Amino acid sequence: MFGIKKKQIETKRTAVDERLQHVAFIMDGNGRWAKKRGMPREFGHKKGAETMKNIVRYCGSLNINCVTVYAFSTENWKRPKNEVDAIMNLLNEYIDYLYTVMKEDDIQIHFIGDKNRFNPELKARLEKAEKDSQNNHRILNVALNYGGRDEIVHAVNELIKQGKKEITEEDISSNLYTAHCPAPDLIVRTAGEIRTSNFLMWQGAYSELYFTDVLWPDFSESDVDKAIEEYYNRTRRFGAVV
Ligand code: FPP
Repeated sequence: MFGIKKKQIETKRTAVDERLQHVAFIMDGNGRWAKKRGMPREFGHKKGAETMKNIVRYCGSLNINCVTVYAFSTENWKRPKNEVDAIMNLLNEYIDYLYTVMKEDDIQIHFIGDKNRFNPELKARLEKAEKDSQNNHRILNVALNYGGRDEIVHAVNELIKQGKKEITEEDISSNLYTAHCPAPDLIVRTAGEIRTSNFLMWQGAYSELYFTDVLWPDFSESDVDKAIEEYYNRTRRFGAVV
């Protein structure tokens, strides 16, 4: 994924199989990483954005078809303006980066979340990147102004608009921002917090959860390998007896 010459990627793990189609990351710990170095939080986000590029690319090299990253939550607007501005700047740079790689690496980009909160210029850029990549195959979801509860409310409102009087689980699933991809098999959270923080609430009902103390900017390919090894050692029962 992301057009990096195959030789530069030192794949430490062999490719995954159909049991692992979708991995999602809660990229936590940028602020603490910066603080440990006596630097402003924005510095941590900048390094975090680099880590995100590397990890998404590495997942592609392992043949993981769908990756989701939690880049900005509906609650993150409460952060100081300079921090929000820094993340928005990183987002603009990231869109440029995506354009240089999404074609050659066959990435279909989706910005999941409510785009209406972004300024019209940025919203148009997000939508253009989605449109320009819609015929590609691998999926990258970047969660922006995303909240799991907000997403479910949005889906229900869509169903009301469609005139539904009674709904099914399938109705909700097919009206979520992630309707184009399977539910995450594995959700990874960095930086030691043991919660999912309003991320993929509906889709994550049967996801395997993996928590690590590693701060996101330090998260490496071998940390991805560890999460995947643990995933393959678990037995998924989906509520049944196996
Ligand atoms: C959580 O760390 C991280 C975020 C809220 C932002 C994640 C953003 C990036 C990885 C880079 C931006 C990339 C794009 C494409 C916008 P935290 O700040 O909560 O860390 P802390 O818990 O140590 O304070």
